[in-house]
Amino acid sequence: MIRYSKVLGTGGYLPAEVRTNEQISETVDTSDSWIFERTGIKSRRIAGPDETASSMAEIAARQALEAAGCEPDAVDLIIVATGSPEYVYPSTACLLQQRLGINNAAAFDLQAACSGSIFAMSIADQYIKSGAAKKVLIVGSEICSRIVDWTDRSTCILFGDGAGALLLGASDELGVLSTHIHSDGEFEDLLYCANPQAATGEKRNEPGYINMRGNEVFKVAVNTLGRIVDETLEANNMDKSEIDWLVPHQANIRIIMATAKKLKMSMDQVVVTLEHQGNTSSASVLLAFNEAVRDGRIKRGQVVLLEAFGAGFTWGSAIIKY
Ligand code: ACO
Repeated sequence: MIRYSKVLGTGGYLPAEVRTNEQISETVDTSDSWIFERTGIKSRRIAGPDETASSMAEIAARQALEAAGCEPDAVDLIIVATGSPEYVYPSTACLLQQRLGINNAAAFDLQAACSGSIFAMSIADQYIKSGAAKKVLIVGSEICSRIVDWTDRSTCILFGDGAGALLLGASDELGVLSTHIHSDGEFEDLLYCANPQAATGEKRNEPGYINMRGNEVFKVAVNTLGRIVDETLEANNMDKSEIDWLVPHQANIRIIMATAKKLKMSMDQVVVTLEHQGNTSSASVLLAFNEAVRDGRIKRGQVVLLEAFGAGFTWGSAIIKY
């Protein structure tokens, strides 16, 4: 019998505080119109002082487990994608495991910046298809607001906080059709967030904030995402018209529109959460997917293409029959 991995449940969490473009314009030299026209973002959520990547992960994870009707102790692997963990170690995944009150699953963090959730789906799919795991909990959780420099207008306007979760489980029904992940370490200087305590040279004296040459990242992102779309369709011998929904990483509406155009998809088939969430890095694809599943746009049996691009550079896609 062929064994597939299927989405059993999804969850999401956004912190309560809304920070608008107007509010940011009061502290840095920018404007609502500049931000909205260049990025598609109007506001983002900001985590409260008592929230952490693991506390937000717990809320999203419990929702996904509940949607799947699955008890936490049935999970045999937990993968958390995050670039804003509260500790270097223990991992956010281990902290989440503690919060879920279970101790029988393997748990680890995955660092692939904004592509983290797609990388996690790829690993989970391999574990399930090989028979090494039956239920894998994937979470992307980020407190980007604590790793952006709020005096740097080129980055602080872009990011937001939140967590998204997905439970993948073994099934004899078709689910994940394929995943494709890639990295190219050549681009370190275009997008990085230093860890000053462990760095050397100039990076040792820098604060640990997101540093990005946005315009150059933008160009690579558009080209790379175009290529991954072709690769995904070819691998499945599929035509563009067979995809019902595109769930892209939410970095910039212009990047999203370029990918939709490449797929000849109307924006009505694209899930966009960016306007009121900004870029939540590894949480963004899972948050968008969860939103469209819960509001009934994405229905069982439909074909969904998820994709992301982030620091590293890293990029990837997952195509699923939901
Ligand atoms: N308000 C007003 N002006 C600004 C702002 C701002 N917030 N930010 C930059 N500018 C200015 C610049 O200084 C520049 O001025 P100049 O022409 O006088 O030099 C001008 O606006 C144009 O700047 P660009 O950087 O060329 O603007 P661009 O149109 O490229 O938009 C943006 C910038 C939104 C960052 C875009 O490049 C982008 O979205 N890049 C991709 C981001 C991405 O996908 N990242 C990957 C995922 S993130 C991760 O992995 C952590």
